[in-house]
Amino acid sequence: MRTRSSKPNLPDRPDSAVYQPNNWLDPLDWRAIFSDATRPLEIDVGCGKGGFLLWVAGSQPTRNFLGVERQLIRLRKVDKKIHDRQLTNARLLRVEAGYLVEKLIPTHSVSAYHIFFPDPWPKRRHHFRRLFQLAFVQALYRTLKPDGAVNVATDDLEYFAHMQKVMRESGRFCEKPATALPVEAQTEFEKIFLAQGKIIGRAKFLVES
Ligand SMILES: C[S@@+](CC[C@H](N)C(=O)[O-])C[C@H]1O[C@@H](n2cnc3c(N)ncnc32)[C@H](O)[C@@H]1O
Repeated sequence: MRTRSSKPNLPDRPDSAVYQPNNWLDPLDWRAIFSDATRPLEIDVGCGKGGFLLWVAGSQPTRNFLGVERQLIRLRKVDKKIHDRQLTNARLLRVEAGYLVEKLIPTHSVSAYHIFFPDPWPKRRHHFRRLFQLAFVQALYRTLKPDGAVNVATDDLEYFAHMQKVMRESGRFCEKPATALPVEAQTEFEKIFLAQGKIIGRAKFLVES
């Protein structure tokens, strides 16, 4: 006998901001995702509860923003907030970020990535799970426009040093000081770590010209 599952599903409302591609093999077509795909596109990798995504999409209506998140419950909450705020320039995708950037994002189509407080996987035996690996960084470079940027922040200073090293060794990026953002742009994890008095590592990496 089949029982009703209590597991949440992806939203099936027609006005949901969650984009569900027909297949997970072909490169994404931004025209199928955003109403005006000629606008610059920025991607919030691991958008979590959407603190940054919602702020940036609300304050920059002439740019498109894609929030990427693999946790369904978080994604559904952000979807509801996008709907409540009637943000037409913000969409969501439930996918593993490494696969997305390496396989699904078209070449030179992204203006900026925001990677705020990615899971640090501090134990050495778990380092292979970190997002920042050479293949990921090369894929960031492939998918960014020539004037593109990668903005990062983390409370794990060892991981921060690792990010700087991988970005530098890729030979594709130059490091700059992070862009200062207003308090309203803080992510949920940022608020937690700041309240704990933690030092945050932040940087902006520009595509090397
Ligand atoms: C530590 S939280 C940070 C969330 C948010 N950026 C913030 O600063 O509040 C990391 C988020 O990234 C998501 N995440 C981690 N690895 C991911 C991956 N490989 N693909 C997609 N999402 C990922 C997690 O589900 C989680 O919501």
